[in-house]
Amino acid sequence: MKKILVTGGLGYIGSHTVVELQQSGFEVLIIDNLSNSSINVLEGITEITKIAPQFERLDLRIKQDVISYFKEHSDIDGVIHFAASKAVGESVENPLLYYENNLNTLIFLLQECNVRGIHNFIFSSSCTVYGEPDTLPITENAPVKEAMSPYGNTKQISEEIISDACSVSDLRSIALRYFNPIGAHETALIGELPLGVPQNLVPFITQTAAGIREQLSVFGDDYDTPDGSCIRDYIHVVDLAKAHVVAMQRLLSDLNTDNSEVFNVGTGKGTSVLEVVHAFEKITGKSLNYNIVERRPGDVASVYAHTRKANDILGWKAERSLEDALESAWRWEQHVRGL
Ligand code: NAD
Ligand code: WQD
Repeated sequence: MKKILVTGGLGYIGSHTVVELQQSGFEVLIIDNLSNSSINVLEGITEITKIAPQFERLDLRIKQDVISYFKEHSDIDGVIHFAASKAVGESVENPLLYYENNLNTLIFLLQECNVRGIHNFIFSSSCTVYGEPDTLPITENAPVKEAMSPYGNTKQISEEIISDACSVSDLRSIALRYFNPIGAHETALIGELPLGVPQNLVPFITQTAAGIREQLSVFGDDYDTPDGSCIRDYIHVVDLAKAHVVAMQRLLSDLNTDNSEVFNVGTGKGTSVLEVVHAFEKITGKSLNYNIVERRPGDVASVYAHTRKANDILGWKAERSLEDALESAWRWEQHVRGL
């Protein structure tokens, strides 16, 4: 049984990926410092898969702890690195925190992979590296634009660090550029747990429907899009999780053609903010209290993925609909709130 270390494995995307890895026959080890997650997620995972993953509460910024961890776990076959700080606005206010957490952790992990002869590495990148795209849908060959935030910059720099590390060692990597992950596991036992006021659209919608937020602000209806609101590529988190499994299988089977590969992970379909709002209303039968307000600084009008590379090379395709994702997000919100 292949052993995969999942950093940030109690977080939103990490926890769904742990479930898919376990259900695909991998043994999973998790590292998380619980800075943006709860230990209860471990129970949720275990309840779904009936397998308790090995968990270590560890802060990957502490190099000595990372070294000790790898000393104790000498038989890891691959690493999936989710652990990072991810709030764009916070990264503007506190850039050094983001550079420290997102870059030091990556470097320490890559160094240990080298020392321990671990060859297979998957990294959580983001469509944010494309900035405002020149053409849609966005292919992996689109230029990486000047970063719009320190957070975005950490993803660009991370991809470069990984590629440089791969060029001088036996390390092989896949960077997955996620578009907009939404939704929750169908069991409603794991899902997204934003701390404080949600910054992302779907958690804000579900919290508004649950009565925790009074009103959803739709940031702008004067963009150059059919209904004037921004367009994004919303991908069900379970589909996204499954992309990690096939990416790891590709590395483990020596099928990769390049030592540092990059794939878009999206549905290929763009959906506007207002379309998301109306789809949510239709699914839940609830009318959502929303208001059109000013544009949010830094938002780009339209972003959606070209998915041919992931379809053809990884043999992966998003299977779940926007409606599936919204419905699961709503069931998760009700579960969390005891509704
Ligand atoms: P998340 O915050 O839910 O998960 C990250 C996990 O990493 C958390 O459990 C947190 O406690 C842990 N962590 C953070 N710093 C750590 C450290 N120093 N040591 C150990 N654990 C640490 O975020 P997520 O949405 O699951 O995102 C996972 C990855 O995907 C991140 O790298 C993020 O930047 C990237 N990503 C997310 C999105 C998105 O919209 N959610 C989109 C694109 C890329
Ligand atoms: C989606 C749309 C908002 C909230 C972010 C990061 C990106 C990546 C994915 C990590 C936008 C609108 C939102 C609200 C709204 N993360 N909106 N009212 O900005 O596309 O991407 O998450 O890598 O880097 O920037 O996602 O969910 O914040 O917004 O109208 O209360 O919803 O303007 O058009 P975004 P989001």
